[in-house]
Amino acid sequence: MTQTDKRTLYEQLLPQLAALVDGETEEMSVLANVASAIHETFGFWWTGFYLVRHGELRLGPFQGPTACMRIARGRGVCGASWDRGQTIVVPDVKHFPGHIACSSASRSEIVVPIYNGANPMQSCPSVVGVLDIDSQHPSAFDATDQKFLEQVAALITQTLYTPKAP
Ligand code: SME
Repeated sequence: MTQTDKRTLYEQLLPQLAALVDGETEEMSVLANVASAIHETFGFWWTGFYLVRHGELRLGPFQGPTACMRIARGRGVCGASWDRGQTIVVPDVKHFPGHIACSSASRSEIVVPIYNGANPMQSCPSVVGVLDIDSQHPSAFDATDQKFLEQVAALITQTLYTPKAP
């Protein structure tokens, strides 16, 4: 897929996602449909969410093969993204120390943290989960994926994790 094709797909996907989740408040339903839409659009190997629960990441809605159900903070790509509060792009999973191999077919990966939204009672936002995408191709993810998937994460923050005015 060329950079132009990828960009075009994301530019079409973003408004579709925004329309899909508009006004929805059910966390699992929103996350399941977002994972499905991304997965179907790009044909990734695995697309899903891990959610911060009880001090660790627990497997949330996903598309693809079965995956590990718990990840400790700082462990693997997902735990590192949570700990750093940053997107991590891994061109070759074999070269990421501590990478958790849920599937031997996965060759590259991107993990994007999802924050809770503005809360006047809380001085700094915290990570509520991560969006994790795996590809069976090496170097599948780059700055374009990061840019658009961070926009997806922001949409999820706005939809699910931002306190609404009464
Ligand atoms: N590879 C991830 C674990 C989750 S699976 O890829 C679905 C990691 O290292 O955190």
